[in-house]
Amino acid sequence: MRTPPSESSFVVSMMALHAELDARFFAHQRALLDRDFGGAAAALADYRERLWRHIADEEEHVLPRYEALGGETTDAPVRLFLGEHGNLRKFVDEFTRSTAALAHTADDRALLALLDREAVFKNLLLHHDLRERNALYPFLAERLPAAEQAAVLALRSWAGG
Ligand SMILES: [Fe+2]
Ligand SMILES: [Fe+2]
Repeated sequence: MRTPPSESSFVVSMMALHAELDARFFAHQRALLDRDFGGAAAALADYRERLWRHIADEEEHVLPRYEALGGETTDAPVRLFLGEHGNLRKFVDEFTRSTAALAHTADDRALLALLDREAVFKNLLLHHDLRERNALYPFLAERLPAAEQAAVLALRSWAGG
């Protein structure tokens, strides 16, 4: 039986990268729980850099291919991904400022407010992940030639490090 596009190795590899990003955000939140605000700031800076790189790769190399192959005619047009990327970036910049402030104040209410905002962010991220898992990457897995899929998989955000 043919493997459904959503279970193709292309999609699985793409989603593994998201799991790697999530693990780095978890490291930030774990440091917050330990009230290690310096560690939380460092982990968030690492996450931010990797998330930015991944978003840039998607916007420069993945979404243009999706658009060229007809992605705009689906329920998940490019502007949805771009809008979500913009919101994700705004949230992470806000968290960077809040975490830096916590390093000075160590205020309980500010810490709880940050965790609440991060819960909103995680919900948005979950929806974004699902849209890419169910729409963007399976669409490309079905239509993008193998050599092009390999080129996408070789982008710098998948290189780790
Ligand atoms: Fe992604
Ligand atoms: Fe994305």
